Amino acid sequence: MKRFYIETFGCQMNVHDSEKVIGTLEQRGYVQVQSPEEADLILYNTCSIRDKAEQKVFQRLNENRRARGKIFGVLGCVAQQEGERIFEKAPHVNLVVGSASYPRLAELLVQIEQGGRRVTGLSLDTDSTFETPVTRRDNPYRAYITIIEGCDKDCAYCVVPFTRGRERSRRSESVLEEARTLAGMGYTEIQLLGQNVNSYRDPSDPARTFAPLLEAVAQVPGIRRVRFTTSHPRDFGRDIVEVIDRNETICNMVHLPVQSGSTRVLERMQRQYTRDQYMQRIEWLKNTRRKISLSTDIIVGFPGETEEDFEQTLRLLDEVEYDQVFSFKYSPRPNTPALLLDGQVPEEEKSRRLMILQEKQRSIQLRRNTAQIGSVQEVLVEGYNSSTGQWIGRTTENRVLNFVTRPRADGSQPSREEMFGRYLPVRVTRAGPNSLAGECAIAV
Ligand code: 5AD
Ligand code: SF4
Repeated sequence: MKRFYIETFGCQMNVHDSEKVIGTLEQRGYVQVQSPEEADLILYNTCSIRDKAEQKVFQRLNENRRARGKIFGVLGCVAQQEGERIFEKAPHVNLVVGSASYPRLAELLVQIEQGGRRVTGLSLDTDSTFETPVTRRDNPYRAYITIIEGCDKDCAYCVVPFTRGRERSRRSESVLEEARTLAGMGYTEIQLLGQNVNSYRDPSDPARTFAPLLEAVAQVPGIRRVRFTTSHPRDFGRDIVEVIDRNETICNMVHLPVQSGSTRVLERMQRQYTRDQYMQRIEWLKNTRRKISLSTDIIVGFPGETEEDFEQTLRLLDEVEYDQVFSFKYSPRPNTPALLLDGQVPEEEKSRRLMILQEKQRSIQLRRNTAQIGSVQEVLVEGYNSSTGQWIGRTTENRVLNFVTRPRADGSQPSREEMFGRYLPVRVTRAGPNSLAGECAIAV
């Protein structure tokens, strides 16, 4: 028996890639184990979006550099970015494979099994990884579906065009077939994935863009929730807003990364939109019949960002009132055009701006979450926290809502089997900046 351990860093694309890798390995007779000590094959699926993420994998490799008789593999974005240099930095690594080469993984494993010392899969012109025959999904209710890979934008700070290559869309029919199969297996929530889902275009029929695909997925019988990530404001058209508005299965939330509230900085970032154009999209989303929850990504301390630019970002947070903000200090990345820009912001100044921004957002979230108290929201039950005795639910707006059930007359508790995967109405009774708490509004 061959045992493997895999640890995943980075975004949902990576999480889903790992599911595909796990499926491929299991098909070849490997068994997944929960610790590197038990494994013969140790894989790290890596992220290189910021320096810190990249350092983590080298730390891990360093920790176990003395392990004997084990095979080490580096997958994903660091693999693609660093390529054979990884063998120099960590000589005990045997396998380096970028995400575009996962369709060749089985073949690369054969080379390893036959004693290959240094095996690589680094080509970026592999067609696609869409049609992986087996995918081992961990979450029994929510399934990821990749609709587009790679990215054709060239944001000045970003490694993704180098690590995931040019954009390639998957055929709509293939996406829909997967959605129907998943619904048949009992999945009720689908998350469509891509570095930029909004620029989706069916390769066999270019008129089928993202909006019609989203609508078709939302109408697959059995699917109750559809989310999608990630969006680029430049390609986020009004047609998408209209599709969201008329299909209730599409969740009341949109993640629309703004990166900066200053048009001057956006231009230096090569984002291809102005603050006003971004705000126009926010207007569309605020004028829908259903209330749509908004989230975003922000980078502070991009080269040349002045105090005034930063304040414009703070004002944007006040204007939009996001429900969630993912904020980062700018991190210089290899190969990216921003490396050549002047006006690098000192580390302490980046930290100061990040702290101010996060404090502001925390109070916005607390205020917005507090306003939810008293409302009844539908949650999908995803877990149970035995230390607090609360069920863990998620609202359509992607908020975590921890809740208790009403006491039963006979004093018994509902079992996990009865509860997990159910959709239940929950009355919100308390709020914090990052989650809500409540009580189930019906007897269960
Ligand atoms: N430095 C800091 N943050 C970055 N991001 C992407 N590249 C960098 C970088 N070089 C952030 C962006 C993106 C999110 C996934 O990560 O905000 O939307
Ligand atoms: Fe990290 Fe970006 Fe690669 Fe995702 S695509 S793993 S965020 S570098």
